[in-house]
Amino acid sequence: MRSLSPLLILLSTPTVHSWGELGHRTVGYLAEKYLTTDATAMVTELLVNDKGYDISDAALWADSVKRRTGYTHTRVWHYIDAEDDPPTQCGIKYNRDCKPKKGCIVSAIVNMTSRISSPKLDSTQHKEALMFLIHFLGDIHQPLHTEALDRGGNDIHACFDSHCSKKENLHSIWDTQILHKSRGLPASESDDKVLKDAAQTWATELFEASSLRVWNWDTVAECKDLKKAEDCALKWAGESNKLVCGYVLERGVEWIEQNDLGGEYFEGAVPVVDEMVSKAGLRLGTWLNEIAGARRRVGLLREQERMEM
Ligand code: ADE
Ligand code: ZN
Ligand code: ZN
Repeated sequence: MRSLSPLLILLSTPTVHSWGELGHRTVGYLAEKYLTTDATAMVTELLVNDKGYDISDAALWADSVKRRTGYTHTRVWHYIDAEDDPPTQCGIKYNRDCKPKKGCIVSAIVNMTSRISSPKLDSTQHKEALMFLIHFLGDIHQPLHTEALDRGGNDIHACFDSHCSKKENLHSIWDTQILHKSRGLPASESDDKVLKDAAQTWATELFEASSLRVWNWDTVAECKDLKKAEDCALKWAGESNKLVCGYVLERGVEWIEQNDLGGEYFEGAVPVVDEMVSKAGLRLGTWLNEIAGARRRVGLLREQERMEM
């Protein structure tokens, strides 16, 4: 039996709980701007269909299936629970923090990277591996996806712009609220068209600003060797985790719980989020370019492209 089309899966999706929809869509659109011809062809071949499914839709798929029968084992792939001690002590230890057998975001990135260019797998498996990868490269840049404390902040109740209901927590504020406010969207915005437009605009701004940024872009993009996927994913996770101590939980859990995060805390979070979404987009683009090269080498190219060579 054919699996359900991704679009249908998306249409039945409850709200997402990783970088929210805006963050993931922006990472997708930003990565797209860095793609080579081969990588663009790979994304088009595996993901884009006649229903207008694009890279930003693909970026949401992993969240839409994680509670679905047959996919619940993938839930732990969205994060790595560093058992460190923020805000005084941060750090990831792979053997300690990545669950044996079950895995984590680091091992998932390693696995999906090799699956996309494995000639032993079929095109549906390649497609799912690509969609997982596009999503996980986003999640790994959300600092709280690299932290065990209170389930990555999910159990830290917090207020944002006087919204203090049960559903506000530190994790969701970093997945969604900070991004929406920063981009001028209402907290409750969920219309796909509005979020896609906002993501396109944000991706364009980040792309244009990237050459002016203070961080070193060569260093950001230096992970190119697919054989070193584990080192790369650990490096990315380590950078995110450092921000847990460096900003996200810097003031301590008590302060977070007692103050509205929509003010000065939000202002300080905006450059952090811009930096992490920029890095995620550039790294995803770079990584997909390498994967497209690997697929070409093992002969996983469409007939048509092979004939054009
Ligand atoms: N569940 C447990 N830990 C988590 C984390 N760090 N991020 C998201 N969900 C989680
Ligand atoms: Zn996720
Ligand atoms: Zn999340």
